[in-house]
Amino acid sequence: MNKLLPERLVKSIYQELLPRLQIESVNPRNPIQVSYLPQPWRLLGKGNYAAVVYHPDYAECVVKIYAPGRPGFEEEVEVYRRLGFHPAFSECLYAKDSFLILKRLYGTTLYDCMHLGLPIPQQVIRDIDKALDYARSRGLHPHDVHGRNVMMHQSRGLVVDISDFLHPEACSKWNDLKKAYYWLYRPVLRSLRLRVPYSTLNMLRKSYRLASSFKTSCYQLLLRLTCFK
Ligand SMILES: Nc1ncnc2c1ncn2[C@@H]1O[C@H](COP(=O)(O)OP(=O)(O)OP(=O)(O)O)[C@@H](O)[C@H]1O
Ligand SMILES: [Mg+2]
Repeated sequence: MNKLLPERLVKSIYQELLPRLQIESVNPRNPIQVSYLPQPWRLLGKGNYAAVVYHPDYAECVVKIYAPGRPGFEEEVEVYRRLGFHPAFSECLYAKDSFLILKRLYGTTLYDCMHLGLPIPQQVIRDIDKALDYARSRGLHPHDVHGRNVMMHQSRGLVVDISDFLHPEACSKWNDLKKAYYWLYRPVLRSLRLRVPYSTLNMLRKSYRLASSFKTSCYQLLLRLTCFK
């Protein structure tokens, strides 16, 4: 897993980045907070568990650092080990001490595409479907595939976060996103080229979560009722 990397990059991570970086995950359901990022490092993205940064001298690599107390680092390393190479995914170049150095994927998350009003062609959805099939063929379970974990680059689809692909439980996020794409986005929203404010996207994200947990609770209740019959 630890491939040939510029020694200076690894040195800079240990000597400049990690000792001074301040990140915190206040609530595992919302993106982490970055209160200090030392120069010259730049923030590229935030997930609910980790921050993703890069050094301008090594812009082809990103460093994904898990927030203190958030699990998932070892699992993500294992997912990359099993995944092998596929053009729609990143690659893990180095992993140690709760951070991974990953190949940088260029593109815009579908979440940000909605914010920027960028049209999302069907090819993007097809590419992601194929990439997820590839992951399945490697014994993985696509999980937590939502709008901030997939990207569009030059009208092609990419999968940027595979950290939960060891979880065997069913996850309907990608199928739900596709339904919204084919039933609402393509027939109605695409031609309007709406720029959806982050506040609205955030509200939709939270409503979706509420609806999903309600659906799960109803399903569990139904299961219990049928078991006790
Ligand atoms: N290899 C990469 N190349 C470019 N950008 C990346 C890469 N990996 C992650 N990012 C950016 O950083 C963001 C956060 O990374 P990631 O989704 O892996 O974090 P996470 O905490 O595991 O997310 P989640 O909340 O979905 O669990 C992504 O949405 C994406 O914008
Ligand atoms: Mg993510």
